[in-house]
Amino acid sequence: MSERAAEQGGEGADLDDLMARARAARGHAYAPYSRFRVGAAVSTDRGIFSGANVENASYGVSICAERVAASTAVAGGARRIDAVAVTSSASGPASPCGACRQFLYEFGPEMTVAAEGTHGERKVWALSELLVDGFGPSDLESAVNGE
Ligand code: THU
Repeated sequence: MSERAAEQGGEGADLDDLMARARAARGHAYAPYSRFRVGAAVSTDRGIFSGANVENASYGVSICAERVAASTAVAGGARRIDAVAVTSSASGPASPCGACRQFLYEFGPEMTVAAEGTHGERKVWALSELLVDGFGPSDLESAVNGE
């Protein structure tokens, strides 16, 4: 079990389940251009949702697995994400890209992030370690309308 999972009193088994869901989702990745296949699964207040990266011939509109999983969760009624598991076709763990870190922050600034590659090595962080002083809903509160 990872240090962070141990700190949290045994989240390891939950993360194993979540990672299994991410691995299954990776099987549905549509990545004909990069050949970098990614699966993600999020644990939420409405259960587990998963997603895979979906690329496009117009490369720039491709979307990462993490954002597909989080969007699917939110569209399914979830509003809080407690953990995300990510697995790619790389041999080692690949952490979520910057855009995904920001996207996830909206739904759980303290969520656990776990990444695994095909060789099974796992890294686990708090999202707050990956995105320090992230921009969130509360940052909009002090805005003055019209300025
Ligand atoms: N990708 C993800 O799905 N998640 C990440 O965190 C990093 C990158 C995808 C996007 C693209 O389809 C492929 O991996 C290569 O960048």
